[in-house]
Amino acid sequence: MEALEMLNSLVDESDPDVDLPNLVHAFQTAERIRAEHPDLEWFQLTGLIHDLGKVLREARADPPGSCSTKRNMPR
Ligand SMILES: [Fe+2]
Repeated sequence: MEALEMLNSLVDESDPDVDLPNLVHAFQTAERIRAEHPDLEWFQLTGLIHDLGKVLREARADPPGSCSTKRNMPR
């Protein structure tokens, strides 16, 4: 949960589809998956944690976009 809370202050400027804090995006993703697949808890969890790699980028002080899934490959 602590890693997810770190997403709350992170807006990924390299992701043109997300201008919300990533924690909000994580819960929205998990909730949409739950609505479509209420029996697949593993899938809901995957939606919740799918952007946790962005926390690693912040911890390493890598440049924005270096861990993005949209534009650049992770190092
Ligand atoms: Fe995402």
